[in-house]
Amino acid sequence: MKYRWLIVALLVLLPSAVCARWIKDQVVMPVEATGPVVFSHNNHLEAVGKNCPSCHNAIFNIVVKKNPVFTMADMAQGKSCGACHNGTRAFSVKDDCSLCHPTRDIVFKVPDAGDATFSHEVHTGLYGCGECHPGIFKPAQGKNTATMTEMEGGRSCGACHDGNTAFTVGENCETCHAM
Ligand code: HEC
Ligand code: HEC
Ligand code: HEC
Ligand code: HEC
Ligand code: HEC
Ligand code: HEC
Repeated sequence: MKYRWLIVALLVLLPSAVCARWIKDQVVMPVEATGPVVFSHNNHLEAVGKNCPSCHNAIFNIVVKKNPVFTMADMAQGKSCGACHNGTRAFSVKDDCSLCHPTRDIVFKVPDAGDATFSHEVHTGLYGCGECHPGIFKPAQGKNTATMTEMEGGRSCGACHDGNTAFTVGENCETCHAM
């Protein structure tokens, strides 16, 4: 009798446990507008239980190329990550973007004037990612270059730092540069 339950338990637990060891923890989902989103299997198997069918294949097909590309608007309506990230089961897709789309401070190397630092934290408190990416800046470090003259003409930081929307690039050198 003891063994029967052991066998039943093994049949239930083994497939998930074995699969959980074999699968890749991190799945990288390319997103042109923001840079890649990294989804962690391990963290989710902790959060929702070692239960593959809670996502596969009803929410995400295990054959990645069968998944359509979802927008944040789709997710806000309960598709893709939004099936759980709705503010009830897990933090909402409408809240802290940087929990899924990581951002960091960017340092522009400027030997002549001192390095210039751009803070995502300050700016994402004011703007959505799409207001800068990919229109003003490709979301890749070092793929955007501009001179101060070009900025004064409205490019790069100068798209907003024009003395109107935000302090001008024509002055305030030391607000951006470590001089
Ligand atoms: C919380 C949701 C969730 C759970 C639970 C989950 N997965 Fe996934 N899985 C995903 C997502 C999201 C992707 C990526 C889909 C995409 O890129 O379109 C994925 C992708 C995969 C892939 C394809 C990886 C690749 O790079 O091609 C495999 C294989 C996979 N999962 C196996 C499993 C197995 C086995 C389990 C159970 C142990 C499991 N998953 C549990 C969400 C989940
Ligand atoms: C729960 C995780 C999660 C959160 C929170 C989240 N996103 Fe996303 N976002 C994704 C994933 C995953 C994709 C890619 C989906 C795909 O390729 O199917 C994506 C795609 C996008 C895209 C490209 C598609 C589109 O809608 O135009 C933009 C832009 C975007 N996110 C911005 C944001 C912003 C802004 C926020 C905060 C308001 C945010 N995201 C919050 C996971 C998230
Ligand atoms: C089956 C439900 C479910 C789905 C689908 C799901 N999540 Fe989650 N996720 C959770 C739960 C539950 C937590 C933990 C509770 C919390 O943090 O609010 C979590 C936590 C997270 C975290 C914080 C932990 C970590 O790994 O850093 C991130 C980031 C995240 N999810 C991203 C995503 C992305 C991106 C997608 C879509 C590709 C997704 N999730 C789809 C349920 C889900
Ligand atoms: C006010 C403008 C602005 C906003 C808003 C903004 N970014 Fe950026 N982002 C930048 C600039 C500037 C760079 C640096 C570009 C360079 O080095 O050429 C950058 C670079 C990046 C990079 C590549 C660098 C790295 O860390 O790997 C990613 C990814 C990125 N941003 C994601 C996001 C996401 C996600 C959001 C929304 C949560 C966002 N950004 C909002 C201006 C912005
Ligand atoms: C809003 C922030 C900001 C302000 C204000 C600003 N800069 Fe810059 N500056 C930058 C960034 C960012 C770069 C690097 C751009 C790149 O590499 O694409 C840069 C590049 C430069 C460069 C190298 C490119 C070139 O034009 O020769 C010099 C020199 C420079 N700044 C001097 C100044 C001086 C002098 C001032 C004040 C009159 C000033 N900057 C004000 C952000 C700023
Ligand atoms: C989409 C518009 C926008 C773009 C593009 C933008 N900024 Fe800003 N930035 C703002 C606004 C708005 C503020 C806050 C108002 C103000 O301080 O005038 C701000 C504030 C700042 C501050 C002050 C931060 C603080 O701690 O108070 C710095 C420094 C800065 N930006 C640097 C940059 C640099 C460097 C770039 C280019 C790489 C850039 N910004 C691109 C809109 C923008």
